[in-house]
Amino acid sequence: MRPTPAAGLIREIDFGTPIPASETLVSLTIDGVEVSVPEGTSVMAAAMMSGTTIPKLCATDSLEPFGSCRLCLVEIEGRKGTPASCTTPAEPGMVVRTQTDRLAKLRRGVMELYISDHPLDCLTCAANGDCELQDMAGAVGLREVRYGYAGDNHFGDAKDETNPYFSYDPAKCIVCNRCVRACEETQGTFALTISGRGFDSRVAAGPTDFLSSECVSCGACVQACPTATLIEKSVIAHGQPDRSIVTTCAYCGVGCSFKAEMQGDRLVRMVPYKDGAANEGHSCVKGRFAWGYATHRDRITKPMVRAKITDPWREVSWDEAIQRAASEFKRIQAAYGRESVGAITSSRCTNEEVFLVQKLVRAAFGNNNVDTCARVCHSPTGYGLSQTFGTSAGTQDFKSVDKSDVVVVIGANPTDAHPVFASRLKKRLRAGAKLIVADPRRIELVKAPHIQAAHHLQLRPGANVALLNALAHVIVAEGLVNEAFVRDRCDPADFDAWARFVAQDDNSPEATEKHTGVRAADVRAAARLYATGGNGAIYYGLGVTEHSQGSTAVMAIANLAMATGNVGREGVGVNPLRGQNNVQGSCDMGSFPHEFSGYRHVSDDATRETFEELWGVSLDSEPGLRIPNMLDEAVDGAFKGLYVQGEDIAQSDPDTQHVTAGLAAMECVVVQDLFLNETAKYAHVFLPGASFLEKDGTFTNAERRINRVRQVMQPLGGKAEWQATCDLSAALGYPMRYERPGEIMDEIARLTPGFKGVSYARLDEMGSVQWPCNDAAPNGTPLMHIDRFVRGKGRFMLTEYVPTDERVGPRFPLLLTTGRILSQYNVGAQTRRTANNAWHDEDVLEIHPFDAENRGVRAGDLVSLASRTGEIALRAEITDRVQPGVVYTTFHHALTGANVVTTENSDWATNCPEYKVTAVQVRRTNQHSAWQERNAEEDVSLRRIGASELVVAK
Ligand code: SF4
Ligand code: SF4
Ligand code: SF4
Ligand code: FES
Repeated sequence: MRPTPAAGLIREIDFGTPIPASETLVSLTIDGVEVSVPEGTSVMAAAMMSGTTIPKLCATDSLEPFGSCRLCLVEIEGRKGTPASCTTPAEPGMVVRTQTDRLAKLRRGVMELYISDHPLDCLTCAANGDCELQDMAGAVGLREVRYGYAGDNHFGDAKDETNPYFSYDPAKCIVCNRCVRACEETQGTFALTISGRGFDSRVAAGPTDFLSSECVSCGACVQACPTATLIEKSVIAHGQPDRSIVTTCAYCGVGCSFKAEMQGDRLVRMVPYKDGAANEGHSCVKGRFAWGYATHRDRITKPMVRAKITDPWREVSWDEAIQRAASEFKRIQAAYGRESVGAITSSRCTNEEVFLVQKLVRAAFGNNNVDTCARVCHSPTGYGLSQTFGTSAGTQDFKSVDKSDVVVVIGANPTDAHPVFASRLKKRLRAGAKLIVADPRRIELVKAPHIQAAHHLQLRPGANVALLNALAHVIVAEGLVNEAFVRDRCDPADFDAWARFVAQDDNSPEATEKHTGVRAADVRAAARLYATGGNGAIYYGLGVTEHSQGSTAVMAIANLAMATGNVGREGVGVNPLRGQNNVQGSCDMGSFPHEFSGYRHVSDDATRETFEELWGVSLDSEPGLRIPNMLDEAVDGAFKGLYVQGEDIAQSDPDTQHVTAGLAAMECVVVQDLFLNETAKYAHVFLPGASFLEKDGTFTNAERRINRVRQVMQPLGGKAEWQATCDLSAALGYPMRYERPGEIMDEIARLTPGFKGVSYARLDEMGSVQWPCNDAAPNGTPLMHIDRFVRGKGRFMLTEYVPTDERVGPRFPLLLTTGRILSQYNVGAQTRRTANNAWHDEDVLEIHPFDAENRGVRAGDLVSLASRTGEIALRAEITDRVQPGVVYTTFHHALTGANVVTTENSDWATNCPEYKVTAVQVRRTNQHSAWQERNAEEDVSLRRIGASELVVAK
């Protein structure tokens, strides 16, 4: 049984060294008791597994044994001396003694040396009660320190307080090396070393301090440190937690599990949970540390209304706000028709919240005008993978990469956007797997400590399909197709048509070089490596989907995997790295205008009848409006009312000026959010949202893993989002009655075949489960398409390359592509309200030295970035991470407004915007753009009425 909210402070067992996965057992005797353990287990872990605790300091089971502290000595019959149990493998027939007088004396001696150079301030130390040194001193029975504390010591050494979240106090360091190894083995950053020798040994982060080092603040070293040397500043400030609740990170699609460690009602720290299947005890800076936004003073905790968007907000009761929203929606529908209103769900919200919003739209609004932010990120994944494989999701679990021999990363930047998966991937690469990166930009994975991509196919933005076709051309033309797999698993006619298509000369690497800019020889070598290098896995991101041919590129990736037989077992597959925490879930929950939960079309009579029967209302069989259609129709005057839950489309969606024109044209915009975001500038009703710490429900990560989100604190606004949605629905005349979110999941399970076996009881029992979870797979499905594709036979799709309409020319000669960085998250609403700004407090424009020199641009200059849709100004960073002709920026800061310059172009199949390709010009300037000036003014006035007057400071 997994820990539940009432479980107190959860302390996981530390076996000292990793437990191997071997199925072969070895038997040995420890302190007279026979023990059987997997082959390769250390004597220390074998003892721990049998309930015998061996003192230790340098060992922990998340790291390989190191054998430096000499505290874990044991006696082994037939062996001389006292070997370290952490570095000694258990062997059949071994007889081990862990508790003898000789060992006790030796251990006390070792501990005495450590303590003689340790400030004995336990009672006032922040780690008091959670310190392994303290525990071990007690465990070995140390009562006296003979060497005195007045000799040489490190008590006066300066602390390093530069990291905003943790401090380093060298006076307490026992030089056990756990932090260094955690940074190397777990995180893969190699930011730490031990400098000096003997007494002068010191942990060093870069030449000066943590903040200016390579450290990415993942917290792995803090987690590994057995003393208070590396410790969270929040623990120093507030003291030790007294209870913990297991929940799920609300940032990216990795879906890391955390223990929210509390002191009363105060969150003291987030500790990555070892039993979390997605992260296995690791974390990144966002989930580990950047949770302070949840109680930031900018939180809006009272409902507000206003008649016009130029009026000041007025705080009102929940009841008045809900009634206002409902009466406005009803008035609009009476005046302009049933189709004149709709809603946007959020991938930041839980499955249960998303499910209820789409239910409200279909049952209470009586139309299908519901869309989700997946529209602007992974909707092409849904389309492309369902066409080829028959399901709209990735094929593998994250663990699968441990078995990959060749990894293709295309249009994704895992170290910044999916950091915990990136650490797992890096570990596999350090162990020998080969890497192919296809990206216009030199992402970190191309060359990182102990990692060097075999190929970096640095293509031009917009040329993914041409490149993928060229890779396929080589595989077909050079006879590298896995004929057996294709024959058994795929539709032969579709394969033949596809093989003829990709074999055409115009798909050859030589012919496509003019589109991609990638040397034909490199494409050929990469294709051979993927097709013949063993288990080949493809991981892709928004650099694939956010194009006018996003869906085509997804299908081209699926074609490659089928042609090479890289589907249906561990180590292979097609894996979309989902951006937001619950983007998989928001798609699964039926928040698209054409689909019910489980990806069933609204025109399917049988499916619709199932919903109608349970919901007691007749449902529309026509697909509703997508987000871009809602905005277009708003500008045209037909769409008048919108309920936006947890999305900031005025910042996140492309062509900002078109988005805001659409919002401004509506008569009722209801925004439910944590903060007065950019979209709220156009809202008439504001409903306070709840942070993930205030939610109860589930998120579904990029591996289809459904994780529980458990409430850590009460909603600051006094109402959970699902309750507000129910209230709004009731006010619209369609009551939805649930006592708790678990009942919503029960309804989802009843209506959605792939969720039939999902319940909170099962999630509590199993920790998490990957859908499909039903009668055929009661414990879920880690790997998909093992014996057959979900659609039956895999379907090869023709993927003709059609260049985007967005072309460079004399007026706009450069191509802009956009992305994220590690420390900030999407529109930055959360991370900008944390100390993560220490790493990234403004969006900058990356420009190649050649393009910069041509324009007289120097590092740090303010430059204008103009496209045919708009203009902004931001600072230039000159770097050869980008190629000549390409510039790059992030979109985390509202005042920068990166999406002012992106265009209305979108994917032909799904309308996913083409964020990744915009023709632009860059020139030096000394002023911000007119849009930025105007937006900054509005922002100041918003803050005046928002933060200072209306929000209760927390
Ligand atoms: S926080 Fe992470 S990246 Fe930074 S030094 Fe520690 S382990 Fe390395
Ligand atoms: S900082 Fe902590 S983990 Fe690192 S060497 Fe010192 S005591 Fe060990
Ligand atoms: S990797 Fe993603 S889910 Fe995990 S802690 Fe970081 S942001 Fe959260
Ligand atoms: S724990 Fe074995 S040598 Fe340190």
